[in-house]
Amino acid sequence: MKSKIDSCGSWVLDRFPLTKLWNDHMAQYYAPKNFNFWYFFGSLALLVLVNQLITGILLTMNYKPDASLAFDSVEYIMREVPWGWLVRYMHSTGASAFFIVVYLHMFRGLIYGSYKQPRELVWIFGMLLFLALMAEAFMGYLLPWGQMSYWGAQVIISLFSAIPVIGDDLSLWVRGDYVISDATLNRFFAFHVIAIPLILLMLVFMHIIALHEVGSNNPDGIEIKASKDPWGHPVDGIPFHPYYTVKDIVGVAVFLFFFATVMFYMPEMGGYFLEHANFIPADPLATPEHIAPVWYFTPFYAILRAIPDKFAGVIAMGGAIVVLFLLPWLDRSPVKSIRYRGGIYKKAIVLFVISFLGLGYLGMQAPTAGATMMARIFTAIYFGFFLLMPIYTRWEKTKPVPKKLTEQPTLEDRIPALKKIYGEVIKDVTEVKDGKTITHKRPDTAGVARVIRRTATNIKKGLD
Ligand code: HEM
Repeated sequence: MKSKIDSCGSWVLDRFPLTKLWNDHMAQYYAPKNFNFWYFFGSLALLVLVNQLITGILLTMNYKPDASLAFDSVEYIMREVPWGWLVRYMHSTGASAFFIVVYLHMFRGLIYGSYKQPRELVWIFGMLLFLALMAEAFMGYLLPWGQMSYWGAQVIISLFSAIPVIGDDLSLWVRGDYVISDATLNRFFAFHVIAIPLILLMLVFMHIIALHEVGSNNPDGIEIKASKDPWGHPVDGIPFHPYYTVKDIVGVAVFLFFFATVMFYMPEMGGYFLEHANFIPADPLATPEHIAPVWYFTPFYAILRAIPDKFAGVIAMGGAIVVLFLLPWLDRSPVKSIRYRGGIYKKAIVLFVISFLGLGYLGMQAPTAGATMMARIFTAIYFGFFLLMPIYTRWEKTKPVPKKLTEQPTLEDRIPALKKIYGEVIKDVTEVKDGKTITHKRPDTAGVARVIRRTATNIKKGLD
């Protein structure tokens, strides 16, 4: 006889396709069996999103979106509200973690060509997510109403006034006042707490639906749907659940270890996650000596500052994001994964990473003549990477792509090689002290030099 729970379950299932949804997106969603380290960041982005939503709701319970109360309400959360400090640090660390995870997630797309046909829409929804995320972070940063919140917003919103004809009116409209004020704080609060989170959730839904329609790419960049077994399942695929649900738990555990370390021991992260100037209440009459956005915006901020004309700088900064949207159409290579691309693409991507990190660093520094020159070179490389892509991806000779997924050495397979390297760079040094022989482990400079030389040669070989 059917139990009450069973009949209740089937009553729901007769009216709502829960089993079908579970099967279509988890138990019978076939994902390539060679997902590697880079594939952890999608599920981690989901985890951080949930963290931000939950801690954000809790913060809202005690935060006051009022220019005369906002700063103190954050202090109140930190000092008086039970566990308030934890919730706030989870949220502030989560903001930076979100960008770390999403930048790595985007980089994975770049190296494995996950934006290429048929996943263009997955990429476009991803880019819209990135834009929404930047807006969410920017507006959230005003809420603590510290000096950097205030002046950061002042600088960024005044950029709109560089637009000819409508610029001044536009920045006035965005601020709701002639300077950043209570009106700005209130509207940013509304956007940060409800409008943009709804957009983010909707976009995540569309991102994943689009992905599951075409299926995941993989480190080999091969379409696994091309070869199916007699039951219609991809030969190179495995059900997402339980294989990847379990694997993702490993990623989550490692991520939480780092996340908790930062949150408990270094929540300000040396002024990168929570800037020092933001511990001073906003003062419209005292401009901080050095205004810089939070680290995740600095590559784009450096591009803005590298251009001598303000309007051209705003266009370049916007253009740096627009080119990312165009990536699926800029890349003309016949192969997707970096594994089968030629040397030009590999060198280009190394230069791109160096320039992106370099811009990120320069965006945090005061703009000296030397720094501006470097920022201009990096900006040229950044745009060169994308705008010359239609040429160099078509020119270069690619390697033949295998029909089936390839076997790659696992971490376990690499352990003997790692042990050998350890033996090369560490040597035993004995010393006699008080008649006793003591053995110390010390770095072996000749061994270290040998390992560096070998690694450099291998990297060079990989780039050819
Ligand atoms: C809130 C932010 C985001 C969330 C929660 C999210 C979530 C996910 C998840 C769960 C997956 C499937 C698992 C995986 O392949 O790792 C995925 C795949 C993907 N995402 Fe995102 N994502 C976000 C932002 C982005 C952004 C900003 C981009 C790029 C512009 C992007 C591009 C992609 C691509 C191309 C794939 C398919 C990758 C492949 O099949 O190789 N995502 N995303």
